[in-house]
Amino acid sequence: MSKDEQKVLAASTAVDALIEEGLIFSGMKIGLGTGSTAMPAVRRLAQRISDGTLSDVKAVATSFQTTLACEELGIQVCTLNDRAVGGSLDLAIDGADEIDRENNLIKGGGAALLREKIIAYNSLHFAVVADSSKDVPSLGTGFALPVEIIAEARVPVMRELEKLGAECFLREGVKKAGPVVTDNGNLIVDCRWKSPVNPSEMEDAIDRITGVVECGFFTKNRPVVFIAQPDGTVVRR
Ligand code: 5RP
Repeated sequence: MSKDEQKVLAASTAVDALIEEGLIFSGMKIGLGTGSTAMPAVRRLAQRISDGTLSDVKAVATSFQTTLACEELGIQVCTLNDRAVGGSLDLAIDGADEIDRENNLIKGGGAALLREKIIAYNSLHFAVVADSSKDVPSLGTGFALPVEIIAEARVPVMRELEKLGAECFLREGVKKAGPVVTDNGNLIVDCRWKSPVNPSEMEDAIDRITGVVECGFFTKNRPVVFIAQPDGTVVRR
């Protein structure tokens, strides 16, 4: 199975299993992730609404990409602050850039990590869908950790990140001159270490730097993960 086929398989397997287990249900408040694996999950959810399995689902989107998808697919979009949502969600479903053996994550490849983390950390349950390439033994040395920063603090923040042992790169736009600007108007610095790091300790250390808005280590609300395999099976962990 190709990587793209694995993404669709992981996403639809997860949505169907979570419906079966009662973690996705009518009337629920659901957080919807960003990226090429989260999108098939959004589409599967829309299918299960239009086939009548689910009704009155209130979605909170993690990005403009997800908001547009929900609008096109007819999924009701709310904000986390809407009275009907009340600042917490029943479940969030999202993709990831890397997943270690303890289900710690790196996220933010699509520069949506801030809203993704707000939603993941304010959800009772968290599910992650991925193809097999995302399953890694440790974090820090492979996919570069995205860190969302305030533009005015770029130089001191990059200096502090380097003190934590990271090599840092300001993320450049594609088909746009200059840096990537996030949905929240901030910049992204991508960080890589020479040897694996403790993601929970590093998440705390990075988030203490003045001028950092949020980092892409997700260690505080461990998800259940659905990882599709090249042979067409899905490993759940
Ligand atoms: C976006 C994310 C995505 O979930 C992550 O980048 C994985 O994306 P994809 O499923 O396209 O590989 O964190 O900010």
